[in-house]
Amino acid sequence: MSKSTQNRRQFIATSSKAGMAIAAMPLMTKISPITSINSITTLTAAGEYAQQPLNYGYAALEPFIDAMTMEIHYTKHAAAYAKNLADATLAEKLDIQTTTLQDLLKNISHYSPKMRNNAGGHFNHEMFWQLMKPAPSITPAGELAEAINKGFGSLDNFKTAFSDAAKTRFGSGWAWLIVKADNSLAVCSTPNQDNPLMDIAETKGSPILGLDVWEHAYYLKYQNKRPDYINAWWNLVNWEFAQKKYAESLIKK
Ligand SMILES: [Fe+2]
Repeated sequence: MSKSTQNRRQFIATSSKAGMAIAAMPLMTKISPITSINSITTLTAAGEYAQQPLNYGYAALEPFIDAMTMEIHYTKHAAAYAKNLADATLAEKLDIQTTTLQDLLKNISHYSPKMRNNAGGHFNHEMFWQLMKPAPSITPAGELAEAINKGFGSLDNFKTAFSDAAKTRFGSGWAWLIVKADNSLAVCSTPNQDNPLMDIAETKGSPILGLDVWEHAYYLKYQNKRPDYINAWWNLVNWEFAQKKYAESLIKK
C-alpha cells in the first residue's frame, strides 16, 4: 500500500471513530462534526512539528546543566528551530498532515538549507530534552545494555567512544549512538543540526542517544571546557528513554 493511500485510510479510520464518538455524546455537548474532525487531524499531524513542553523545570538538571542555560536553550534556541521549521514548511508547501518528521529528515536533500537546519534542529532538541532527566538510573538495563556490551565490549568503552565523538566534533554539532540498518550499534557525530536519519548523513541510522555540543548548550557554565560538560552529562542520561528508542528502532526493521 502506498504511503498516501495508507494515510488516507488512517484519516478515514480516525474520522470515522471521531464521528462515532461525537454521535455518542449527549445532545447538550454536541459540537459540529466538521469542526471536531478538523481539530483532531490538525492536532495529530502537526503535533510532532511543534515544540513540546519540557517534562521538568529549568533548574531540574542542576548542578550538571544550569537553569539559565536550560531556559535560554529551550525558550530561545529550540523554540526558534520549531518556528523556523513551521515557516519553511509553509514556504515549501510541505504537507505536514501526511509527512512525518522522520520521513522529512530521510528525504531532506530535496529541501532547502533552511528546512534542513530547522527540521534537524527541532527533531534533535525534542529528543535531547527527553534523553535527560534528574537523578536517572546510572546504567542502562535490558536489551540496550546487552547490545552495548556486545557492540563496544563494556559500558565504559562505549562511554569513552561516545565522549570522544562529542569532544572531537569540530565546531557545532551532535554526538550520537545509533542503530544501523543491520541492527548493530555505532557511535558517530554530525555537524550543525544534521542527524543520522538524514539522507545526506555520512553514517546513517536511528538515533538512540544524542548529545548537543553547540556552545549554546554549555558555555554559560563550562565556557571552553566542553569535555567537562560531556562528563557531567552522563549524570543525566535517561536510559529508560534510550532503551525505548532502541526497542522502537529494532521493531521497524
Ligand atoms: Fe542546542
